[in-house]
This record gives sequence, C-alpha cells and structure tokens, in this order.
Amino acid sequence: MSQKQVFPDNFLWGGAIAANQAEGAFDADGKGLSTADMVPYHKKKDYTNLSALMHVTSESITEAMKVKTAEGYPKRYGIDFYHRYKEDIALFGELEFKVFRLSMNWSRIFPNGDDAEPNEAGLQFYDNVFDELRKYNIEPLVTLSHYEMPMTLVLNYGGWKNRKVISFFEKYAETVMNRYKDKVKYWLTFNEINTTIIEPFTGGGIVGDREENVQQASYQALHHQFVASALVTRKAREINPEFRIGCMLARMIHYPATSSPEDVLQAQVDNQLNLLHTDVQVWGSYPPIAKRYFEENNIQLVQEPEDEQFLLENTVDFISFSYYTSLISTTTPEKYGVTGGNLYSTVKNPNLKVTEWGWQLDPIGLRIVLKEFYDRYKLPLFVVENGLGARDKVEEDGSIIDDYRIDYFRQHIEQLAEAIKDGVEVMGYTSWGAIDIISASTSEMSKRYGFIYVDQDDEGHGTLNRYKKKSFHWYKKVIASNGADL
Ligand code: BG6
Repeated sequence: MSQKQVFPDNFLWGGAIAANQAEGAFDADGKGLSTADMVPYHKKKDYTNLSALMHVTSESITEAMKVKTAEGYPKRYGIDFYHRYKEDIALFGELEFKVFRLSMNWSRIFPNGDDAEPNEAGLQFYDNVFDELRKYNIEPLVTLSHYEMPMTLVLNYGGWKNRKVISFFEKYAETVMNRYKDKVKYWLTFNEINTTIIEPFTGGGIVGDREENVQQASYQALHHQFVASALVTRKAREINPEFRIGCMLARMIHYPATSSPEDVLQAQVDNQLNLLHTDVQVWGSYPPIAKRYFEENNIQLVQEPEDEQFLLENTVDFISFSYYTSLISTTTPEKYGVTGGNLYSTVKNPNLKVTEWGWQLDPIGLRIVLKEFYDRYKLPLFVVENGLGARDKVEEDGSIIDDYRIDYFRQHIEQLAEAIKDGVEVMGYTSWGAIDIISASTSEMSKRYGFIYVDQDDEGHGTLNRYKKKSFHWYKKVIASNGADL
C-alpha cells in the first residue's frame, strides 16, 4: 500500500438492491405471494409519516389478495430485474463492481414458506444471477430476508411472532446456503433487523390490527429473528467454514438536541435501543437496558431455555449497516418541528439540509457511526446501504446530470475515508440503489437512488430501458482509483 492510499487493496466497492423492489415477476415460475406484494401505491403522501405509507391492514390485505395483476402494486413489477438481470449485471460489470448486494425472495424458493420441497425454478434463477456475476468477477453479498416473507406465513401463522417460523426460515436458509455454497461467500441474515419494531409488517409480517399489543408482538418477532439468525449462522459454518456472516442494522444515530442533560440522556437511551440489535448479534445477549425497557413497556418475551446459549454461541463475523441520516433526541420535540427520515420521522436538526423527502443530510454522521461501531465491537464493518433518493430529469439529449448525487456520494465517501484513517476496519461499501428501483417506503419510482436510470414512472409506465447517469461515470472512476479520485 502506498503512503497515500486509504482504502485497502481488497476493499469491496459496489452497489445494492433488494429482490422485492427490483425483481418484479411476482407470480412467475411458481413464486408465491409475499408481504411486499401486499403494499399498494398511494398517490397522496405525507413524507413525515413514512410508516403510514407502508402501513398494511387486514382489510388492505384482503383487497390485495383479490388483485391478480401487478397493477397498483409496484413491488409486484419492480424494474423487472427478473428478466433483465443480464443487462443490469453487464452495467455493474462496466462499473467494475467488486461486490453486488442483492437479496433473495424467500417466496421464490418456498412459495408458501412451509412447503416440503423448494421451487426449483426459483433456485435456478439465483444460480443464473450468481453465474452472471461471476463472469464479471463480482462477488455476491446475499441478504436472506429483506422486507419480505411468504404471505402464507403471515396468514396462517401470524408472521415472525410465531416461533414455528424459525424452523421454516432455517430450512430456507439451509437450502440456499447448500445450493450456493461455492458461489456465495458473504451472507446477511436480516436486512435492517430493527425494522421489525419500527414497521412490524415490513420487518416481521405482523398485521397491527390483529394484535392486542403490537409492541409486544414485534419484540417477540424480533427475538425469533435473533434466534433464527443465530441458528442460521451455526448452520452456515457447518456448510462452508469459509462463509462470512453479517448482521445488518439501520443505524439511527441520535444526537441530543441541546446540551441539556435531559436531551443527552434521551439521546443515550435512543442510541442504546438502536444498538440493542447489534449487541445481541455481536455479543450474544441482550444489553442491560433491555430489562427495564421491556418492563416499563409491558413487553414479556417468551424465550426457550436454549435461546440464551444459541445467541451466545453463534454471533456474527462482521457488522453491516445502512446509513442515510442522523436523528435528534429531545424531551421537548415541539420546539423543533418534524421532518422525514429512514422509516420514521424525526425532530428537525437546524444544522442540516434536507432532501425533497425530508431526509437530513449528514455525511459526518457516517464517520461518527463507523467510529462508534468499531470502538464498541472491534469487528469489521461493511457499509451496505448509503445513498440519495432524488428526482432525476432526463435532458433532451437523453443525459441525466445528477450532480447532487455525485456530491452526496463524494461527501460520504470522504467521511468513510476519514474513518478508515481513524483506524476503523471497513470491508466494503455498497451504495443503495445501484440502479433505480421501487422505493421501500413510498413505493414510488420517482424517488431514485441509482447510477443507472430506469425509464418507468410511478404508475408503472415506461420502456424500462436503462440509461447511464452522470454519476455512473463518476462512480466508475472512484472504483477504478480505489477511492482516491473523488
Ligand atoms: C433502507 C432499506 O431502509 O432504505 C431499503 O433497506 C430502502 O430497502 C432504502 O429502499 C431507501 O428507502 P426508500 O424508502 O427511500 O426506498
């Protein structure tokens, strides 16, 4: 390594997508319905209440189940990655991605979740994708569960709050880890595992109006996911000791709004509750604050005697996380006003600018998060999501001049470099979107994250043609220079 080189030679540069937002083909080749297929597109939006946009009720599920086409349900059609993966991967190859993060649709492999046998057509699809990636020397980073699960497991079992779902998930994970043991090395068990308590349907298949106490059901579901993740980690090591298994947290760093001890304490508690998830997956047990939090919120976790040992013995190899924005904690929120955020709204930070969707822009926050994670856990880190949702304009000559996106990435990658110089061990960086996909929270197409523009509007109209944005050429240069040329 030369004197000035910051990023290690084997640094994994790349991009990320999720199956439910990209693949489409919601009922092709034996795929079953998933939770993501239940989310309709809402024209009227309140960006300060993102959870409401994703909100699914018993009534809306009944409606959705009656609809046999993809119309009105954008995650059913995605960007048709299912049929266009070769073209898309060729573009990732041109970018010289070292890694591509994608998730697998559980309901493509086990259409109902509790099936006796997997669906061969679904397995073959991912074989094809991994083989295509191999052609370009792109390493896959696979998330087993990213915001979807088979609907049958919701309707017949009540989602993740039911302990039986652990064994269905184990079977799914074991099936795919065996099948791809020579094709995939890096695995993440659950995307943004903390979503289960923030948006219980999306994260845990919990339908709010069916629960007496949604928070109780969500924490129970979360506990089952922790156990499932530990069991899958154990299984993974048996299948291939070379596998590297990571957890994945939506890191929501909270700053105190003021230096008042009340605000500082509030921020500390909010951070502890966010980091609770990585504490369990890295240290193998709940942090001390969980006991008080559960007691005060009337949450009674049902645990089996063996759970404690499972969690302790099967912790992760690395920590991955998404970082989009920072949040504010205060005991007097009325003083500040509210803005949008990743999954939930937050109190406004007067020091930060916001995107059209109200997400606060805070590149330095990424450095703070990286340093804090590493100081706390001393495990390698992987930034697996970071990016800017923005509206892009196609010029008359077909170009897309997304300088705002370039600025966003430049500022965040600069901070990533600073964190590495601070001594933090970072394995890689996968930008969110890589290519425009359906938004997780708003189901819009016009909230675009990619380096590659996809010609499709919010109602699903368009040619689906792919075009390189200005940021495409910029990111290619960043990768080619291993982060030196920003
Ligand atoms: C993360 C999710 O929370 O944020 C992704 O893991 C999601 O699935 C991303 O797409 C950006 O959020 P959104 O709602 O703008 O698509």
